[in-house]
Amino acid sequence: MDDISVARVLHVLAIIHWIGGLAFVTLIVLPMSRSRGTVEQAWSLFENIERRFSQQVRISIPLAGATGLWMTYRMDIWDRFADLEYWWMTAMFGLWLAFMLMVFVVEPHFHPKFAKNAQRDPEKVLLRVSRLHQCLLLLAALTAFGAVAGSHGVRFF
Ligand code: HEM
Repeated sequence: MDDISVARVLHVLAIIHWIGGLAFVTLIVLPMSRSRGTVEQAWSLFENIERRFSQQVRISIPLAGATGLWMTYRMDIWDRFADLEYWWMTAMFGLWLAFMLMVFVVEPHFHPKFAKNAQRDPEKVLLRVSRLHQCLLLLAALTAFGAVAGSHGVRFF
């Protein structure tokens, strides 16, 4: 197995952990929390699970990025980022960048503010969080669709 295949395997494993976890939080944890007895219980269930998950994705997100960039460098396919046919390459990079910023910059920086807002109006915050997770999951699914199809020879245009 050459280094590009190793990078591909690690890339897909990291994506499974990260996007699989996102799907679990969006489709199971958030609807479950929102049907809890009180909104305070709902917020605390979501926050406890999300805290553990966000610690783990601090490994899988950088790993997905490092392996993806390694493949791009080794295959010398940088020009794909300027080619509409390879829209899924730009989508992968964009999604990764957005999550890196959320997990390493926005979340640690604004956590006290989020927690304060959640204490004041947990229902509103949970609804916003659910919507955001749904949008991100949809974008991730579209990106994964494009990446699998595109890297196995499907032409989109
Ligand atoms: C810095 C960010 C990323 C870079 C530079 C990157 C780069 C790459 C490259 C170069 C490939 C191989 C393409 C080929 O064989 O033609 C690939 C495959 C793939 N990537 Fe990414 N990627 C990144 C992030 C992501 C994200 C966020 C996702 C999830 C939505 C993702 C999902 C995939 C999938 C599913 C494949 C196909 C694997 C296969 O079927 O062989 N990547 N990526």
